[in-house]
Amino acid sequence: MANILKIVQAGHPVLRQKARPLTVDELRGAEISRLIDEMRETMRDAPGVGLAAPQIGLPIQLVVIEDRPEYIDRGDPDEMKARERTTVPFQVLANPRLTVVDRSPVELFEGCLSFADFVMVVPRVHAVKVEALDHRGVPVTLSAHGWPARILQHEIDHLRGVLCVDRMHSRTLTTVRNQARHWGEQGVPEVLTAVGTTDDIDGVLLS
Ligand code: CO
Repeated sequence: MANILKIVQAGHPVLRQKARPLTVDELRGAEISRLIDEMRETMRDAPGVGLAAPQIGLPIQLVVIEDRPEYIDRGDPDEMKARERTTVPFQVLANPRLTVVDRSPVELFEGCLSFADFVMVVPRVHAVKVEALDHRGVPVTLSAHGWPARILQHEIDHLRGVLCVDRMHSRTLTTVRNQARHWGEQGVPEVLTAVGTTDDIDGVLLS
């Protein structure tokens, strides 16, 4: 059984670094193969639907994603449908390049294993295409829309030192517990209206 790795939390400098690409030789080597196994088990243990190498302290362009049927079955079916959350088979993506396919904005609560216990509303685009290398160094192309497209955008951001908090509606930041307690029944547009905007804090910042 692979080791469970320590996931670094917000504030660790590695989360703000630009990750370096991997060579095909590195990808096929024993060291990265073992790391991939460890990242898969760490993601499953968390549990999470994606993990980027900077989150375990390594500034390399390597991501694992997986959204298992049992995770989706555990949720409310209407909510899963509204989020366009569908199964994502386990996949390794090295040196990924993301292209926007449908730039319609989608605003949903999301979290990050490096911001344990927090969620926030993050606008993402609806559909993307990702070109990358798989675990054998073979080029792969993934097309995704809805929640799987969100996972890809979130994880690939990590490789550029970009975090969900850089894109979030800052006033929606909440603990998971408070999200369920206070905002779970409401749609995101209602949440955004209820928390208000940051327009009126400029005066405070300037004074
Ligand atoms: Co994350």
